[in-house]
Amino acid sequence: MTDTGDNTLTVRDNRTGKEYQIQISDGAIKAAELGQIKIDEDSPGLSTYDPGFTNTASCRSSVTYIDGEKGILEYRGYPIEQLAEKSSFLEVAYLLIHGALPTKEQYDTWVHEITHHTFLHENVKTFMQGFRYDAHPMGMLMASVGALSTFYPESNNITDADNRHMQIVRMIAKMPTLGAWAFRHAQGKPYVYPDNELSYTENFLAMLFKMSEQKYVADERLVKALDVLFILHADHEQNCSTNAVRSVGSSQVDPYSSVAAGIGALYGPLHGGANEAVLRMLRRIGSKENIPAFIEGVKNGNEKLMGFGHRVYKNYDPRAKIIKKACDDVFEVTGVNPLLEIAQELEKIALEDEYFVKRKLYPNVDFYSGLIYEAFQFPPEMFTVLFAIGRTPGWLAQWLELVQDKDQKIARPKQIYTGDRTLDFVPSSERWAGDAGITPGIS
Ligand code: ACO
Repeated sequence: MTDTGDNTLTVRDNRTGKEYQIQISDGAIKAAELGQIKIDEDSPGLSTYDPGFTNTASCRSSVTYIDGEKGILEYRGYPIEQLAEKSSFLEVAYLLIHGALPTKEQYDTWVHEITHHTFLHENVKTFMQGFRYDAHPMGMLMASVGALSTFYPESNNITDADNRHMQIVRMIAKMPTLGAWAFRHAQGKPYVYPDNELSYTENFLAMLFKMSEQKYVADERLVKALDVLFILHADHEQNCSTNAVRSVGSSQVDPYSSVAAGIGALYGPLHGGANEAVLRMLRRIGSKENIPAFIEGVKNGNEKLMGFGHRVYKNYDPRAKIIKKACDDVFEVTGVNPLLEIAQELEKIALEDEYFVKRKLYPNVDFYSGLIYEAFQFPPEMFTVLFAIGRTPGWLAQWLELVQDKDQKIARPKQIYTGDRTLDFVPSSERWAGDAGITPGIS
């Protein structure tokens, strides 16, 4: 947008009576501009207080567009519905990373590169085998992705485009191997090596579920459904984990360390863990007859309808619509999850109920995804690992944008200090003089 003279904000500081003109660009003002607003030369400039960044843009980005009011999600301008129906996860990954759809030759090279980097150094296997038998697979994934930076120390040369590309390929390629090995670890089963003849998602299923058969053959409908789930999770603009990747990446550390930070953020129940809560809720409701009483409880504020509502979407989450359709395809193969009936009835009632309508509460991506994952026989701890595999190209596309963005600086928010000042330190020998039996320095 071109700025005109009118495209400014006039701020009057009532403490001093001074007026300031602040430029508005793309519907935002630069927070640093507020720094000029001071009571006097010695006092700190005005800043904004925004815990959780609810109204602060941290970057300019051309990766993902969301219109939460209208329920629109686009990657690089392409609607999620079309990508889920007509594309594949690796093509979407290419789109996110490169910014445009590939030619046939570019696509073939990309798939070849990803396929041939799925293997892990044997020491990574040993490292993973060192975890406790009941280690959470997300903890294993986070640690092993971080550990990859030690296997590829050249990855810290983030100014070199070819080097960056190599690490991006490696990470997208190796994530399913790490995720599958974390899954097998919990089951006490031998880790399965990648099979380069299989597609990305088929290979992942083979590494998860292959036993003594020569070749693991997955049902095509399951492969497609999982591929679609990966596409739906591939990016979601500046969410908590992407912000973690960008924040850590802003120190110019290698991309493995940045993505490991993203995995840590995704691990938290407020981000990646809601689908598990949906399953628990559906199990607790137990049958359709119990739904009205449950809904009453929600309306009375006793609990939340998990899988409903979103900070950004004030309409049906477009991903939830696509997942609902994928449910049908998966259940055709695996048999219907009895919880589906309860979920559908809940949705029907909630969408007509004034409480939910008034608050614009619609199903989000997590309302149905747990049901599908369960049909695949994934334990709930694996749900977030699947999310992480899908999100990896998005994290990397955002990281790539960050490291090439001249506007970016090391992430370093301000604070409003609320603690004590200028206290006089009294050594412990004096402070504890009256306390019997306590030796200073030993606790
Ligand atoms: N069930 C019942 N009431 C709800 C729900 C819900 N799921 N979600 C929001 N509300 C109500 C709130 O109580 C509030 O009501 P009030 O105005 O009477 O106080 C109103 O709707 C607005 O809700 P907020 O909490 O202000 O909305 P916010 O944007 O902060 O929260 C969130 C969004 C966290 C997703 C919330 O809707 C929620 O907790 N949903 C359930 C958990 C969930 O499904 N999380 C997954 C999100 S998708 C993802 O992360 C991949």
